[in-house]
Amino acid sequence: MTQCHSPGILLSKASLRFNQKILFENLSFELAAGKITCLLGPSGVGKTTLLRILASLPLAGRGENKLQTLPATVKKPNPDELIVHYDEQEVVCNARIRTSDQLPLRGRLAYMAQTDLLLPWLSLLDNVMLGNLLRHVPRSQSQIDHAMHILESVGLAEDAHHKPHALSSGMKQRGALARTLMEDQPVILMDEPFSALDAITRYDMQTMAAEKLQQKTVLLITHDPWEALRLGHQIFILRGQPANLSAPIIPPMMPPRDITDEALLPFQKQLLRELDLRISVT
Ligand SMILES: Nc1ncnc2c1ncn2[C@@H]1O[C@H](COP(=O)(O)OP(=O)(O)OP(=O)(O)O)[C@@H](O)[C@H]1O
Ligand SMILES: [Mg+2]
Repeated sequence: MTQCHSPGILLSKASLRFNQKILFENLSFELAAGKITCLLGPSGVGKTTLLRILASLPLAGRGENKLQTLPATVKKPNPDELIVHYDEQEVVCNARIRTSDQLPLRGRLAYMAQTDLLLPWLSLLDNVMLGNLLRHVPRSQSQIDHAMHILESVGLAEDAHHKPHALSSGMKQRGALARTLMEDQPVILMDEPFSALDAITRYDMQTMAAEKLQQKTVLLITHDPWEALRLGHQIFILRGQPANLSAPIIPPMMPPRDITDEALLPFQKQLLRELDLRISVT
């Protein structure tokens, strides 16, 4: 078995206030090393915000009556520890992030946003290779071959030279997935990565992603309980205001699971109950 080089991540003491609205208060959350953690929760509870804090990305803020992005201030009391802080009149946030391997998180994290964020003036292939472009890595044939291989795995090899405007929203989302996989980082944060896909493509992408994400520390946000049951080594529900986390739901067997397997039925019921779905689960 390959050894896992992906760190576990502990987020602790996360507090966030937008105006008078307290989203988190002293929230703690652990991502298991080399495992897929799925996070579900109602719209607006703070899932995307939590992901952005983990990646120390800017939050939406308001300055002098116009919307702007509010960058994170990051302090490093220890090599393996970050204190992320946002402070503006209407937004105050603090969080502590630690890695389990005592190494810095910086440079080891890939983020797939809720929207595809493909650059409209670049071809799909160039979008997939964007990370290397931004890092000024000289373009090589092996890099192009690798990007094409990933595009093939998401079913878009024939569209490699198209610009995003020529792609459907599901194709754009698969393009964004390909770009995330191209980064090949040990820690991957994914915000509803399959939400724009039809049922069959979604199933295929989940199967492919489960294989490519093996041994990586993944946080995957989804609104789909069956997706969480297929892919998550552990599943949490985020709910309430201020938000709190459910106890972890840990289904048996390795992902990608066959969700028609009867062994998953009790976990399906538990998940639906935790989500407070008003359907009959006896
Ligand atoms: N700059 C801001 N000012 C005030 N409130 C904000 C700001 N940015 C986000 N919010 C609020 O924070 C909450 C969490 O937003 P977030 O995008 O994290 O939710 P989410 O759980 O990802 O929802 P969804 O499932 O719809 O994507 C929302 O209620 C939103 O209105
Ligand atoms: Mg969101």
